[in-house]
Amino acid sequence: MNIESLWDQIVTQAEQAIADEPLLTNLYRRHITDHNSLSSAISNILSSKLYDTYMPASSLEQLFNEAFNDSPQAISATARDIEAVRERDPAIQSYPEVLLHLKGFMALQSYRVAHHLWQNNRHQLALYVQSRISETFDVDIHPAACVGKGVMLDHANGIVIGETSVIEDNVSILQGVTLGGTGKESGDRHPKVRAGVLIGAGSKILGNIEIGQGAKIGAGSVVLKAVAPHTTVAGVPAKQIGSPESIMPALDMCQNLEKELASDGKTPHILDFNI
Ligand SMILES: CC(C)(COP(=O)(O)OP(=O)(O)OC[C@H]1O[C@@H](n2cnc3c(N)ncnc32)[C@H](O)[C@@H]1OP(=O)(O)O)[C@@H](O)C(=O)NCCC(=O)NCCS
Repeated sequence: MNIESLWDQIVTQAEQAIADEPLLTNLYRRHITDHNSLSSAISNILSSKLYDTYMPASSLEQLFNEAFNDSPQAISATARDIEAVRERDPAIQSYPEVLLHLKGFMALQSYRVAHHLWQNNRHQLALYVQSRISETFDVDIHPAACVGKGVMLDHANGIVIGETSVIEDNVSILQGVTLGGTGKESGDRHPKVRAGVLIGAGSKILGNIEIGQGAKIGAGSVVLKAVAPHTTVAGVPAKQIGSPESIMPALDMCQNLEKELASDGKTPHILDFNI
């Protein structure tokens, strides 16, 4: 769906929400229906969460608007993130819920602004935004990290993503996940997570290791070695326990290990995902 069509649907669903629950009128009007574009609405929502004594909401809103206007890829990634959460999170019934209520989504969009600032050599401002994201949403993403589109940070409490991490498109990450260094390396020291990976709650992935496309990491794992594409690992330290049923586990969010194919079993069932 293009950004304009998505925005039209967001506004339509916001009007319906106001009709259903008039007590939320001010919230939906101020953050959604008073705006004429997705980037304007997102900038307003994020600035209302992240402002502090030193940075008024109006200054942040202007900064965020400029960043989204300067970076078509950032707002395009935001649109894909909204669709990703709506598609994957069974607790979510409409697009406005994603924008207004999900701190993982808000943290990721704020990071997209911090990343834009970092790429434009405004490092101090990027680090300030990172700090506000961490304090406000309990999600700590270094602004130099690279995060693709269609990414969902579910629940999101305590997620840490280190400076040289790479997260490709269509990845799902649950609460308490760390993409960190081992403490033994310097420079490029963080994980590289390929497309379609699902990372279960509380998992710690440490070091400059590759998590192959379509892999699945069981909750609570400590992953210290590279994970081959389309394999499932779990445990401390993590070991291969099977292969995901689908080719992109991040998209179907199946977290049931009993349904895994055995590691010596058949090829995973291939779904027709368009990534
Ligand atoms: C423990 C640690 C420092 C590695 O120490 P090390 O002595 O160099 O250990 P190695 O990597 O050589 O691994 C030695 C063994 O311990 C295991 N191991 C290492 N770290 C482990 C962990 N956290 N939990 C369980 N087992 C672990 C390894 O699998 C390996 O087992 P094996 O010999 O059977 O293959 C590192 O893995 C670690 O956990 N660092 C903490 C980093 C962190 O918290 N980063 C977050 C930054 S935001």
